[in-house]
This record gives sequence, C-alpha cells and structure tokens, in this order.
Amino acid sequence: MSALSSLSASYMETRGRSSEYFERASRVLGGKVGHDLRYFEPVPLYIQKGKAGRKWDVDGNEYVDFLMGNGALLLGHADPIVLEAIRQAMGSGTHFGNDHPLHIEWAEWVQKLVPSAERVRFVNSGSEATMLAIRLARAFTGRSKLLRFEGHFHGWLDGVVHGFQPPFDSDGSLGVPPGVRESFVTIPDRDLGLAEQVLAADNRIAAAILEPSGASWGRVPISPEFLHGLRELTESYGVLLIFDEVVTGFRFSPGGAQQLYGVMPDLSCFAKILAGAMPGGAVVGRADVLELFDQTGDARHDRFERVAHLGTFNAAPLSAAAGIALLKQVATGGPIHRANEVTRKLQAAWDAVLDKHGIAGYVYGPCSTFHVYFETDKRRIREATSRQDLHTSDAKRLKGMPLQLVSLYQRLLRYHGVDNMSSTGGVVSAAHTERDIEDSTRAFEMTVLGLREARQVFSL
Ligand SMILES: Cc1ncc(COP(=O)(O)O)c(C=O)c1O
Repeated sequence: MSALSSLSASYMETRGRSSEYFERASRVLGGKVGHDLRYFEPVPLYIQKGKAGRKWDVDGNEYVDFLMGNGALLLGHADPIVLEAIRQAMGSGTHFGNDHPLHIEWAEWVQKLVPSAERVRFVNSGSEATMLAIRLARAFTGRSKLLRFEGHFHGWLDGVVHGFQPPFDSDGSLGVPPGVRESFVTIPDRDLGLAEQVLAADNRIAAAILEPSGASWGRVPISPEFLHGLRELTESYGVLLIFDEVVTGFRFSPGGAQQLYGVMPDLSCFAKILAGAMPGGAVVGRADVLELFDQTGDARHDRFERVAHLGTFNAAPLSAAAGIALLKQVATGGPIHRANEVTRKLQAAWDAVLDKHGIAGYVYGPCSTFHVYFETDKRRIREATSRQDLHTSDAKRLKGMPLQLVSLYQRLLRYHGVDNMSSTGGVVSAAHTERDIEDSTRAFEMTVLGLREARQVFSL
C-alpha cells in the first residue's frame, strides 16, 4: 500500500459518521454539497462545532481552520460577543420585512469605518453586492460595459462568473446566456497602459471592477500604485471605480483596502465580516450614485428612472446585530492587528519548511491572508539560484498551478488536520494561537513531504 493510500485508509477509519452523512447527502443534495468548494473525496467535512481557530467534525476529529467561514470569521468561531448580540436580537423576532433600528445602526457603523461610504445599501451576499454595484454603475453612467481584470473573483452570478480562473477568456459556467460575457472587457491587471487603451477605445464602459488586494484576496498581488493609477484613469474617462472588498473589507484595515491604500472608489462591495459571519452584504459609495434608489424627495425618480432593488432578507435583524457587534470590535483596530501578527508568523514558519527541504516554492500574502506557490516549471527551477528567484506576478502561473498538485495539497493538509480556504491559500483570524501555528506547520511539513514523494513539487 502506498503512503497516500494508507493515509487515506486511516483517515476513513475515523470518518464513520461523516460517511453516513455523505451517503444521505448524495440522496438529497444537488451536487452532493452546498458550495462547489465544499466537495471533497473521499468524504466532505460535516462540521459540528467551531471555537476560535479550530473546528470539529461529526466524528470528533479536530481541524486547525484557515477557511474561517470563507473569510467571514475575523474573530474566529463562536466569538462570545457576536453570539450574545445575536441571542439578544433573536428574542425580539428573527425577521420583520421592515426596516428596524439595528439596520440603521449597522449602516452608521459602515459609514463611520469605510472612507467612501457616503451611503449604504444592504443585500444578502457578496455576489448580490457586486451585481447591484454593476447595476448602479450602468444606471448612473448610461453605459452598459464593464472593465474587469483576469483572475479577480466577483461571485457566482451570471454577470461575473467568468474570468477568474485560467483560461480567463472562457465561460465560467454552463447555463449563462450567450452574450453576457461580451459586456465585459477582461484584461490582465498591473498594465495601466492597456487599461487606458481600453477606456480610450470604448466609450460604453460604465465601470472598472476589481479586488483591491489583487485577484483572489492577494493570490496575484497588485501594487497600490496600480490602484492609484486606475483611480486617476477611471476618473478622467468618467468611468466609475468599483472595489470588491468582500474579502478585504474590515480585514485589511477597519476601512478595508481602500483605507489601507488610500484610494477612494466610487462604489464598493462588502459581505462576510460585514455581517459578523451571518448572511449579508452591502454596496456602499457615493451619495449621488446611491441616490438612484430614491423614491421620494428632491431626488424623486419614477420607476423608469431609478434602480430597482428588493430582497426579502435585506439587512435582516440577526445579521445586523452580529454585524454591529463585530464592527465595533473592528473599530478598535485590535482584531486586525492580532490576525496580521499571527499571519506573519505563520507565513514565516511555513516558508521555513519550504526552505528546510529546499522546495521550489514560497509563502506570501497581504494582511491576514496567505498563499502558497509551488513552482512546477522545470526551466524556471533550473534557472533559479534561490527560492527568491521564483517569485512571480504572473496570474496564469499563480492561479494556474497543476490541478493534481492543488488537489493533493488540499487532501494531504486535511488528512493532517488543517482545512484551508481555496487552492493553496487560507485566511487567519484574531483568535488563532501559537499552538495553531505550531500544529498547522507540522501538518504543512508532512503535506509538502507527501507532495514531493508524489512528484508534485520539486527541489531547487
Ligand atoms: C472577492 C469576492 N467577491 C465576491 C464574492 C462572493 O461573495 P458571496 O460568496 O457572499 O456571494 C466572494 C466570495 O468569496 C469574493 O471572494
């Protein structure tokens, strides 16, 4: 039996109840799981409980968690202050279908923290936020097209599901009507000259949208200079700038990436941390743009002159309560500082593992996110004199590691007791500890050795 099969066999020995759930899921759930990234063979995770930086499955197996609710859990699992806020709000009912005091307070916190948030409109997810921001931009400018950047993820809905995985010019899903992709111009980021060419050549562009961290919360880093340059460019062409801060919001700084890098977008999209790890999202930005929702007063628009936006659960009370409790803690700066510190230590420890074993790769990532890049191009490895030479900013490389390598990485890491977010990256919370770093570093080392044995990663 190979090392991998025996590891797999012993993993399954302690996954009896998980296997039963998987069997039941296979009979009831479309696609067997609730989110594409949750699918995992031989059996997905069925989590029963989380606390701080750890979680436990239905069989009692423990994991160091770097998925952290897909990036929503800045304070870690089961933060007592957030839980108490939800408990208190719940006592008055879970949903009214009306606006309510917590809704207004939540919006005020967002306005206070996010530099560009003159106005706030809540939705239910990050995907809804990006679609609503795009609708607003089209309505405000009277133009239909969007500029976006290769590899940047903006949710799963029809309008934006393409363009985030290589090949970047292919469709993102079956079932999207033909022509949707044609309303987007998708180009590599970092190239301001190219962005200017596109804007100069096409006066139908309403907005440029991007993740201000670079694609996939910094997997493909971009520089603050690019953000500043794009701000100037879009302004000079009368094109709106939309920051997708669904991951970076309230993580990169209390006011998001826009505050950290000092760039004011016209519109921004938030979710995840915004709602205290409850369902929720928001579009925020210029008052004159969000005024397009107005139905009364000086800015009254009839139904043909305004942006329609409905949604049963917009700004739901429990999400508002959790969001307020979390944003109050974010406002102190403490949780972000702690999460960043832990991440720096984790990155250093994991990078030291690669160094110790001379593996062609490196660990990187801004703020409290981390990514691992393994170089598999034999020519680049041959030509490198140190691991430093392998650093790259090429989106096709950073997002295009062989699927077999990525999938074995995820499998081994999980077999060794660590859950990560997507590809070879994860997010860190303020609740992760030194012990989490130590345990996950051991798991990472075993993972890397397993990858080397399977000839998926290489030595310098
Ligand atoms: C940058 C970015 N935008 C949008 C989304 C979509 O958010 P949601 O999953 O809440 O729809 C995500 C989700 O991970 C994201 O990372």
